[in-house]
Amino acid sequence: MKIIKQISDMQRVIKIEKQQGKKIGFVPTMGFLHEGHQTLLQEARKNNDIVVLSIFVNPLQFGPNEDLDAYPRDFERDEEIAKLRGVDFLFYPSVEEMYKENRTTIIKVEQRVDVLCGKHRPGHFDGVATVVMKLFQIVSPDAAYFGMKDAQQVAVIEGLITDYHLPIELVKVGTVREEDGLAKSSRNVYLTEEERTKAPSLYKSLTLGKSLLEDGEKVHTVKQKMEEDILLQTGYKAEYVEIYAYPTLQELEKVKEAESVIIAIAVKFSKARLIDNIVFSYNKGE
Ligand code: PAF
Repeated sequence: MKIIKQISDMQRVIKIEKQQGKKIGFVPTMGFLHEGHQTLLQEARKNNDIVVLSIFVNPLQFGPNEDLDAYPRDFERDEEIAKLRGVDFLFYPSVEEMYKENRTTIIKVEQRVDVLCGKHRPGHFDGVATVVMKLFQIVSPDAAYFGMKDAQQVAVIEGLITDYHLPIELVKVGTVREEDGLAKSSRNVYLTEEERTKAPSLYKSLTLGKSLLEDGEKVHTVKQKMEEDILLQTGYKAEYVEIYAYPTLQELEKVKEAESVIIAIAVKFSKARLIDNIVFSYNKGE
């Protein structure tokens, strides 16, 4: 595995690989790799000749109240994981390398951002879209791998790829779960012992919502029942329970024939704020 810190070096090695007809799989991350990232790397390894992992904590996607410096980092551990997962190139640029002082543009995401987590993080997805676009230009991947745990991010990237005609396959990788259904996340360690026993009820609530919708229950009623269920099971009021068409993230009522639907929830436990979602195909009126 080669560690590359300069954009020009990354572009040079990718050009050589591409000239040899190699298929490039790309996993962009902010490091501190967990099992979800490892699944992305595994998928990329299975289906590509070359796997590129990027580690870059992107300042542009942090709000003024979000502590960029407190974001967890452990490069040595990440490097070991990357080697074990068969990464060929680890792209690890500095902030100065990625954002030159004379930067003149930034991507503004106009849809899919005023709901779910985006509603509470103005500008966050502009930062994500901008850095992902830059990384795509640097790595020129044939396929890029993103986890559906961050379903809104995936929806934004899907829009980016379409809007800018990028010849990149977006591979959406399903959420990795513990045996009891709890979505794996580095934040789970902040749950108390008691909260940990209650946290799997988030996923149970999502599946309850799915079956209610499939039984023809109204969106409003499903949300209400899920909110009650979450409060009863966890003792916490859900920050949100939302149901939208996916990936457009439009109100379900406004969509004639939604191909897919997302049910998403966020619950703030004493320390950990957990998010989870399920996306499934759904035909209104069937
Ligand atoms: O999901 C992440 O880790 C980040 O948002 C991403 C896609 C690497 C962009 O900085």
